Amino acid sequence: MNIINSKSLLNYNTFKIDVIAESFTTINTQSDIMKVLENEKINKKRKFILGGGSNILLTHDIPGLVLYNQIKGIKIIRESENFIELEVGAGEIWDDFVAWSTQKNLYGIENLSLIPGSVGAAPIQNIGAYGVEIEDVFTKLEAINLKTKKVQIFNKLECKFGYRDSIFKNKLKNKFIITKVYFKLNKKHKVTTNYKSLKNELERLGLKNPSSKEIREIVIKIRNSKLPDPKKLGNAGSFFKNPIINKKQLRMLKSKYSNIPVFKKNEIKIPAAWLIEQSHWKGYRNKTCGVYENHSLIIINHKNATGQDIASLSKKIKKSVYDKFNITLEEEVLII
Ligand code: FAD
Ligand code: EPU
Repeated sequence: MNIINSKSLLNYNTFKIDVIAESFTTINTQSDIMKVLENEKINKKRKFILGGGSNILLTHDIPGLVLYNQIKGIKIIRESENFIELEVGAGEIWDDFVAWSTQKNLYGIENLSLIPGSVGAAPIQNIGAYGVEIEDVFTKLEAINLKTKKVQIFNKLECKFGYRDSIFKNKLKNKFIITKVYFKLNKKHKVTTNYKSLKNELERLGLKNPSSKEIREIVIKIRNSKLPDPKKLGNAGSFFKNPIINKKQLRMLKSKYSNIPVFKKNEIKIPAAWLIEQSHWKGYRNKTCGVYENHSLIIINHKNATGQDIASLSKKIKKSVYDKFNITLEEEVLII
């Protein structure tokens, strides 16, 4: 077990916030975790589990021990004519796994291309994009209870998935370290193409029966055209969730803003990006941070912003959206 003291996390979070972890260790195997939990002195420390750092805002130095998950491996555990079941190490890079699956002509996660971060963090907020969520292909996960040291399996139901939500963001927050995630992918052609921008691009290209590889390429192209590359501009994707409202609220909003975009599936969702843009934040910039000029749901670290600078800007945005629309935005990014 190699423990580094006073380590900068600047290159371990996509917002590019420079805070110091009191101590830091890389986890390559399940037994590395056990070594930490069984060492009385080290196990006393407060623990923070870190994946790709692409959904967190670090607002202070991190006390205790950061466990940087690097458990790798993609293993086929079962295969039939139509399906393949896979066990994937939590430290695999999510998008490498998606690329691997489309290379093998598998179907199910191609719409989730180019989402940064690790496989282990993907179930935590039930990552989603372009009409697909990880719960659509997820079968179970394996995690270690940080208190009891016991290995536990969580099936889909037990994860309590919701929109950008799971039990690991609520009741079991910071209680488990996820070590492996299991997926069931399709071997037969099965695509989800009803998301507007994806559908438009397929129509433009005249692609009626796209392969998973083609969908991946299109999703990457769409994402590159509107989302900032964290390597060039510090950000953590959508800062807020899209608010879910009821029919009465929708009626009231529509009477005032007839052009308000609405997504209806099981619930009514309003794009937070629209609410923020209407509140005149798009392209806003102060000395350190701002709102992305091509997408108002993304907060950018322009120059040496601290986590506090970004948190303070996000509060101002939240307040003005509330004042104008009477809607409280909820952070998607985890404020640490
Ligand atoms: P981290 O940020 O490292 O961690 C997030 C949380 O999970 C933390 O609380 C951490 O403690 C915990 N955690 C991490 N790993 C483990 C583990 N193994 N066990 C237990 N707890 C753990 N998300 C979407 O859903 N859809 C998108 O389209 C999308 N687009 C994005 C675009 C950009 C440019 C960026 C920067 C982010 C985007 N995101 C999107 C958000 C982000 O990529 C996902 O939430 C991703 O799953 C986070 O993974 P991570 O490994 O970086 O997690
Ligand atoms: N819009 C604006 N102004 C903007 C951008 C968008 O008004 O600057 C409006 C438009 O009406 C547009 C609508 O918002 O049609 C939706 O925009 P977009 O298709 O870009 O999607 P989003 O709702 O902003 C969500 C997810 C993304 C995911 C995309 C694609 C949330 C919080 N965000 O964004 O996830 O990639 O859909 O499925 O649900 C993330 O979670 O970090 C993330 C990037």
